[in-house]
Parts: sequence; structure tokens; C-alpha cells
Amino acid sequence: MDAKADVYVTNSPEETEALGAELAKGLLSSPGEVIGLVGELGAGKTSFVRGMARGLGVKGCVKSPSFTLINVYEGGSLPLYHIDLYRLAKLEELYGAGLEEYIYAKGISVIEWADKFPALYAECNIIVIFSYKGEDMREIEIRRR
Ligand SMILES: Nc1ncnc2c1ncn2[C@@H]1O[C@H](COP(=O)(O)OP(=O)(O)OP(=O)(O)O)[C@@H](O)[C@H]1O
Ligand SMILES: [Mg+2]
Repeated sequence: MDAKADVYVTNSPEETEALGAELAKGLLSSPGEVIGLVGELGAGKTSFVRGMARGLGVKGCVKSPSFTLINVYEGGSLPLYHIDLYRLAKLEELYGAGLEEYIYAKGISVIEWADKFPALYAECNIIVIFSYKGEDMREIEIRRR
């Protein structure tokens, strides 16, 4: 069993962002966390990351790093490393892009489609699971382990 799980329901992208912001603010005293996001296409993973960036005080815009593999958002209380595994064929490609430097750095790493590669999934301290419940409704479970 997981140590602790909290379940939330959101009814708009803004509410999902607010949840992401709250989570990120709670991590300020524990840099180095790796957060894995799990959920189908359009479930709200990128919206949640957008909120995390806002929560850290990042000014720039948050877009899914589908082609760049990793986006680094600086200028906030901690750097935020945004990784998306959706288009990744082999985990090795990500190590080539500097993944290890990030996930062991003093920032927060957040990984979309984190369950795609078990070796990386095992590195996540926090897992956030998104479920589609209706056009604007999502269930979001945050598990700490
Ligand atoms: N409660 C909600 N929370 C988050 N997004 C919502 C919600 N209600 C509606 N949406 C819409 O759902 C979509 C979520 O897109 P988002 O890019 O965040 O998903 P994603 O999980 O990152 O998808 P992908 O797997 O394609 O990267 C957006 O179009 C957003 O406007
Ligand atoms: Mg996304």
C-alpha cells in the first residue's frame, strides 16, 4: 500500500492548476523531488504542471515538451524540469538529453506519462493519477511514497 493518498475532484483547468500550484508550494523545503504524472490524453497533466510553475513563481509559459523532451522553467523559487515521455521510444534518448542531471538536481522534476518506463517510474517520490470524469471534471489522486 502507498503511504499516503489524497483524492481531489476538479471542475475546470484552473482548479487543476490550483492543485498543481499547491503541491509545488509544499515542496519548497524538499528540493530534488521527482513527481510522476499518470493519465490518458487530455486528462490534465500539462495543466497541472502549468499550475506547479505558477506556484513556484515562474513567469514564462508552460507547454508540453513533446519534441524537446525536457523543458526547464527558471526564475521561480526552484527550477522546474518538465519531462514528457509520450513520444519517447527508448529511455536512453532521455539520458542523452541530460535527464540524470535534472532528476538528481536541486529542483523539482515532473514527468508526464511517468508509467511508461518502470525504471523511471521507480524514481518518483510522488505519483499523481488523473482520471477523466466528464468534459470538465477530473479526479486527481496524489500518492506519496
Ligand atoms: N478539470 C480539468 N482539469 C484539467 N483540464 C481540463 C479540465 N476540464 C477540462 N480540461 C481540458 O482538458 C484538457 C487537458 O489538457 P492537458 O494538456 O492538460 O492534458 P494532458 O494530460 O497533458 O494531455 P497529453 O497526454 O496530451 O499531454 C485541456 O483542453 C483543458 O482545457
Ligand atoms: Mg500533456
